[in-house]
Amino acid sequence: MTVPDPSPGPTPSPGPSPVRRRVLVLNGPNLGRLGKREPAVYGTATHADLAGLCVATGRQLGLDVEVRQTEYEGELVTWIHQACDDQTPVVLNAGALTHYSYALMDAVKMRTAPVVEVHISNVAAREGFRHESVITAVATGVIAGFGFGSYVLALQAIASAPPVS
Ligand code: DQA
Repeated sequence: MTVPDPSPGPTPSPGPSPVRRRVLVLNGPNLGRLGKREPAVYGTATHADLAGLCVATGRQLGLDVEVRQTEYEGELVTWIHQACDDQTPVVLNAGALTHYSYALMDAVKMRTAPVVEVHISNVAAREGFRHESVITAVATGVIAGFGFGSYVLALQAIASAPPVS
């Protein structure tokens, strides 16, 4: 007579976890001041809140999101170069650099994966100098005016976009 083995046996391996597509969310000058800066325009939530929202949204969409912020044009350009080299999609809020940085425009022009320009506010409804973006023509697309929701929409667009577009 065979006695049934009471041990449940080895736990089945869950298998390799799916590789999440990496996405960079890059924020430019003054966006680290969210929460304190013009709350009537940008709201009262902080950059840390925004970063948390982006990472959580990415997780839901199967994206591995990294959020960075800098006050420096050159640092933003360097991060765009890295994204170009690695074919990493980017959500880019360049802050005021959006309106005049040809260095940033030239960097985005070299993109090898989607770059979605985002703005928290509806820039077209604000002062005249904010109506021009030197980034839009070289980006994949632009989303503005939905508060932090602009980033959520941009991540959704990246999740559903072909890897190179
Ligand atoms: C902004 C709009 C820009 O005009 C401004 O300089 C910013 C933030 C936005 O997210 O609405 O810094 O990009």
